[in-house]
Amino acid sequence: MNVLILTGSPHKNGTSAYLAEQFARGAEEAGHQVSRFEAAFKNVHPCLGCDACKKKGEGCVFKDDMEQLNPLLAAADVIAFVSPIYYYGINAQLKMVIDRFYAQNDRLKGADKRAVLLLTCEDETDESVEGAIVSYRGMISYLEWKDTGVIAAKACGVLDDVVHSPYPAEARELGMRL
Ligand SMILES: Cc1cc2nc3c(=O)[nH]c(=O)nc-3n(C[C@H](O)[C@H](O)[C@H](O)COP(=O)(O)O)c2cc1C
Repeated sequence: MNVLILTGSPHKNGTSAYLAEQFARGAEEAGHQVSRFEAAFKNVHPCLGCDACKKKGEGCVFKDDMEQLNPLLAAADVIAFVSPIYYYGINAQLKMVIDRFYAQNDRLKGADKRAVLLLTCEDETDESVEGAIVSYRGMISYLEWKDTGVIAAKACGVLDDVVHSPYPAEARELGMRL
């Protein structure tokens, strides 16, 4: 299967990057093809809601790094969304990419795809991650994709926290049993 990992963090060696790496490792061990798109290091404009993509049929008005992502999205059987929690939600870098799915709705909605959510945050409360999880579930329900697993690594504010937590093993296991 084709597995696409979409990350939001600007930290290449941060907590969520570590979880993403373990998930990728598991998926590769199980024989899947893994590709990555690191939103924080890409040039992706926020959606303007101009609806030109609907009216003109020429795709999005922005010809930016979404043009690299769109073929990967189309080919992916599994899409993993990976983000640190910023103010009780996924971070803006990843959200900006998701909003740009809008121009691809016809191709993405109802496609036979599965999704995964990997989150990291500093606090220990369920409340810290609930918003991101509800939003993820709403999005994949709308797109008619199937949820394959959510890992919310709480009390993981820095790399050392996540390395010494059970979450990396869970992420690897999730990758292995896709
Ligand atoms: C702008 C900003 C907002 C944050 N908001 C929250 C928050 O609402 N709840 C929380 O538990 N941690 C919050 N954090 C902490 C990060 O989620 C946490 O440090 C995470 O492990 C960073 O992931 P990364 O290393 O992959 O970038 C915030 C961090 C930043 C920079």
